[in-house]
This record gives sequence, C-alpha cells and structure tokens, in this order.
Amino acid sequence: MTTLTVLSDEEAKSPLISLNPTHTVADIDPLIYGGFTEHMGRCIYGGIYDPDNKNGLITEQGYRKDVIDSILELKVPVIRYPGGNFVATYRWQDGIGPRDQRPKRPELAWLGVESNQFGTDEFIEWCRIVKTEPYICLNMGTGTLEDALAWLEYCNGDRDTHYANLRRKNGHEEPYKVKYWALGNEIWGPWQVEQATKEDYAKKAIQWAKALKLLDPSIQLILCGRDGVSDWDRYVLQQCSRYIDMHSIHFYHGDAKHYPNISGPYAAERAIQITSSLIDLARCELDLTEFPDFSRITTAPKTAHRPKICFDEWNVWDPIRAPGDKGAEELYNLSDALAVAIWLNIFIRNARDLGMATIAQSVNVISPLMTSPTGITRQTTYWPLLLFSRYMHGKTVAVHVRAGVYTGETNPKWIQSTVDIPKLDVSAALDGEWLNVAVVNVDEEHSYETELFGVAPASGDIQVFKVGGEKFNLKDVNKEGQETVSIVESTLKGENVKKFVFERHSFTLLRWKV
Ligand code: AHR
Repeated sequence: MTTLTVLSDEEAKSPLISLNPTHTVADIDPLIYGGFTEHMGRCIYGGIYDPDNKNGLITEQGYRKDVIDSILELKVPVIRYPGGNFVATYRWQDGIGPRDQRPKRPELAWLGVESNQFGTDEFIEWCRIVKTEPYICLNMGTGTLEDALAWLEYCNGDRDTHYANLRRKNGHEEPYKVKYWALGNEIWGPWQVEQATKEDYAKKAIQWAKALKLLDPSIQLILCGRDGVSDWDRYVLQQCSRYIDMHSIHFYHGDAKHYPNISGPYAAERAIQITSSLIDLARCELDLTEFPDFSRITTAPKTAHRPKICFDEWNVWDPIRAPGDKGAEELYNLSDALAVAIWLNIFIRNARDLGMATIAQSVNVISPLMTSPTGITRQTTYWPLLLFSRYMHGKTVAVHVRAGVYTGETNPKWIQSTVDIPKLDVSAALDGEWLNVAVVNVDEEHSYETELFGVAPASGDIQVFKVGGEKFNLKDVNKEGQETVSIVESTLKGENVKKFVFERHSFTLLRWKV
C-alpha cells in the first residue's frame, strides 16, 4: 500500500518518501514471481527444449542449460503450462508415451504444427530441474470434462487406476501432485476456439470444478476471468466463487512512447482493486443465498472463503509490433524495464489480494530471456524481475510518497485522470530483518534528490541496486554478449540517510537491516 501527495511542479523538485518498518500491511505471496511457458513461437521448442542444439548448450534430456540457470537464478516459484490460447485445442494424451509414436497436429492458436515432443512428463521433469511448482491450464475449448479428469488422474492419481497406471507405465511411479489447475484460458475471447458466453462458461466451470475436486480435493482451481474490469469478471465470480480458489486476470500493454508505455501498469493496478471489489460483491451476494451442502468440494463454508487474484498473464506486449503468430519476440528497452518494475511494485502494494502472478512468458515469447543457437540474452526486463524475486518478500510496508505526477497521454486511455501516475513509483517490503524499498523514477529528464523519512539502518550499510539511470537511454536494449542494461551495485555509508538521488529513468532498490 502506497499513498501519494501530489506536488505542484515547483514542489515536485523536492520529493519525499516516508515509511516505518513496523507499518506492515499484508503478506506477500512468493507465487507472485511465477512464470508461464506456452507452446507458442520458440518458448518450448528452441527455448526450454532444444534437442538439436549443436553448441553444447543442452542437458542429456535436451533442455537448455542456460535457460535452466536463469530460471533458477530468478527462483521462479510456479510455472503455468501449456497455454494460453494454445490449450484450447490441445490433446494432452498426444504428448505422453514414446516420442516416436506421438502424433503431429495442426495447431489453431498460432497456426503452427505441434510435434508433441514435449508434453506433460517433460514439463514436470523440467519443473523439478528448475525447482518450480507446475500449474496446468485445462483445455475448456475442444477438451471435455472427461479429458480433464483423465489429465488430473494421470498427474496426481495414487491408486490402481487406468491413467495413474499409464503414468507409471511411462516411467513415473510417483504422483506429480500438481496443485494448481486453471479452468480454461481466455474463454471470452473471439480468437478462442470454442469461445463461450459468460453464462455458458460459468455453468460449465461449476460442473468441472465439482468433478475435479471430487477426484482430487487437494487441488486449487483458478477461474477464467478477463481483465478484471468487465462484466465477464463480475458474473463468473458471482456464479463460481464458491467453487474456486483464485480468479485469473490478464493484461498487456505497450507503447513506443515512454510515458504512455509506463502508464499501462496503472490500469492493471486499478484492475486488481476492481476485481477485489467484485470478489467481495460475490461473497456478499453468496451470504444471502442458500446452497446445498458442498462441503466436500468447497474450500470453506460460505463467505469464509475469499478467492485471491491470479494475474496469470502480464507484461509489456504490443501484438502489432511483435505478432503472436510470428512468435511475439519483443525486444525490450529500458523504458520497458521500468514498466516491469512498476508492475512488480504494484504486486507488492496489492499483495493482500494476489495469490499468484505469472509473467507471460518465461522464454523467447514476450520474455525477459531470449535464446539463440549460441547463447542467451537477459533482456532489460530481466533485472528488475531478478531484484524483486530475490529481495521483495515477506510483508508489504505502507509507504507515503510526496512527488510530482505525469498528466499527459496514457495507454490505455481510460486511466488518464482516473489514477495519479507519480514520477516516483514506490513499494516496500519487510523480509525478516531486512527492509527493501523499490523506487522507479520514470522521469525522462530529471533526477530527484529525495528526502527519506525512516531510512535508518540498525547496523551496517545500505545496499543499493540500480538499473538504468543518467548514463543510459530509454531506448537501450540488450543483445547477446552485450547486456548494456543490468544491475549496478553500490553501498551507502551512514546510519541515518536523509537524502538519496534517484536518477532519471532508473529503478533503484535500497535495502538495509532494521
Ligand atoms: O501470452 C500470449 C497469449 O496472450 C496467450 O496465449 C493468451 O492467453 C493471451 O491472449
């Protein structure tokens, strides 16, 4: 939670950040640093799995070592799979068993051919290598409830049953214990095979949820929401919230102009707040409704159950600049890295409502990581993600900021004059004895000497991590072997730091022991 006093242009030259480490307001779920791998472009084939690589970059199973190392470095806690739009025509049974017997299929989301050389067993194996929890999205397009139950049984079945035995026959004795399952992806979208109305979806989602939880009550189900600001979200939450654990929302933004570019995440922040209200609206209506006893399949009785938000697709993406059917390979610049840092500040500020967030995507497709046959590039957006996943844990700390605001054109347009876009975007997290403060100075021209209240280390120095700043250009990008934008580390001496200069177009993380 961060509050803002908007300063006039003159006052804005001297901003202030004020905090007190004892003012914690919410627990931060580590799952907000999740990833997403879809059968799309070069995410799976050429990203995660690259068996024909001739440059010594793969494991014996054909997985890219440099990708594994980067995902491990990012400590990604959960990864969504196999789509995305891809999942709407995916037959999971095609992707198991002997590789030479797996069928090739036309793929209708990105209009490619799916070889099925990477499927459920490989995904789980890769998740174990990169130390992440698998999160599977079910096919609610061409897929049936029977297929979904079979997939769940294949993954989690521990009894003497057909699909559990098929998993064993394929060499995987122990159940995979996949905890997170999504009830379809973007079913509302006109691009979706088997697009549905909110009424049809809600009806189906309840029946699917009931059956899936009867088969395995330990799983968590994620409802298919839209962008959090739609009647689809309101309706499906009202109908289904009793049966699900999280509500998924998606949002992308992107603009070649810097300020419109960094304004996008504020639409997501409003979406989180609006979805939070829709969740309460659904609970409040539920309170007045009599239900039969579904205690075997619902997480908790009646209104004690409050679903969280699962922001399971988010990022900077302009689909005209980087079209999906051409692999959506966005080249990210410093402005995009600042936008990603604001996204992550937003997740910290709104931690109370977030159960999970998974950046779309983890490799090559709109991703902080880009592979080539000869190596890997950590794009500009990799560095804020790394700093957050390393340090911004524990509890959100309330912050007050006094700063100037940006008032020009935004993208999307509706947030102009709806939200204040501060020149200094801030969040703070108390992780044990460490206080971490993340500050994005979005100003294209001005560095700000900022007064700090409450920056008083009990002992030791203040660690400073900076991405971007004076020496950089907002259009700077990273290339293979030339990672121009990365993290610059330094330390600040002194027990009581009163002022700090946040350089123009930079992201800074300050941390000290309280
Ligand atoms: O992440 C890329 C695509 O964007 C996903 O497949 C889809 O769910 C969204 O529209």
